[in-house]
Amino acid sequence: GKVGVLYGGKSAERPVSLQSGQGVYEALRSKGVDAHLFDTGEQGLAQLEAQQFDRVFIALHGRYGEDGCMQGILEYLGIPYTGPSVMSSAIAMDKIMTKRILLEKGIPTPRYAVAYTQDDLYEAAETLGFPMIVKAPHEGSTLGLKKILTKSDIPEAFTLIKTYDSELLAEQFIVGRELTVAVLGKGEDARALPIIEIIAPDGNYDFNNKYIANDTRYECPANLSPELTAKIQQYCVQTYKAVGCEGWSRVDVMLDAKQQPWILEINTSPGMTSHSLVPMAAKATGMAYADLCVYLLEQAST
Ligand code: DAL
Ligand code: MG
Repeated sequence: GKVGVLYGGKSAERPVSLQSGQGVYEALRSKGVDAHLFDTGEQGLAQLEAQQFDRVFIALHGRYGEDGCMQGILEYLGIPYTGPSVMSSAIAMDKIMTKRILLEKGIPTPRYAVAYTQDDLYEAAETLGFPMIVKAPHEGSTLGLKKILTKSDIPEAFTLIKTYDSELLAEQFIVGRELTVAVLGKGEDARALPIIEIIAPDGNYDFNNKYIANDTRYECPANLSPELTAKIQQYCVQTYKAVGCEGWSRVDVMLDAKQQPWILEINTSPGMTSHSLVPMAAKATGMAYADLCVYLLEQAST
């Protein structure tokens, strides 16, 4: 049947989604799928309904696409879609809500505080110490994120991040190795792909190093002992299940100097650009980009 690739949208991650969607669209076409691009930022709901898609691949990132809004619309229209459900998408798009669930499950996540005012950030720094990370809790691709080294960094970070969110997440900064783990499947079949280590040239895996520069190195599988690999993958699968994910997601992890893994967040509509990480992990298991797209589409559900 006719497959819609939803992309673009109207979040701050629109440019990333345009690349993800284009990649998914071309891959599905190459596999003989009757795929069509649909930009949810430019076309409305009536147009979506008029397309009469049999299934859709969600290649949207950020608000209105990854946060449960679009998933709810698709539920309402009765169109099966890729990736996690309304509730899981909404939880994962909120880094604070995700941390509450991780803590409840005993999954290690860096200490944090919620801030609304600049004074809240000064107070957070008293308990979290420096460096401290301040994040817009509802953004992706490291948009709305600042590393705070001293008190004097707080005002500028506060002003920047307030433009993204009214609520701010202040988080203890974990010094160590940056890892990411794709998880595929549903329920008891949920399984982790090989771990990727991200080695950014300046130690900042920010928007530029994610999508523009070509000097970030990736190691997949990451150079970790089999025991540590299994432990990290287990935390990631636990995170995936705790948030109720299905289809796919990608869990971001920091590994500190004592070899303790810390779960940062889970992304329910991971990037599918040429630089993206889930395709890289899938490839390490012999699953090509186009096979991954077909696999995800086959699991689409409402
Ligand atoms: N938010 C970006 C797209 C990612 O997690 O891959
Ligand atoms: Mg994210």
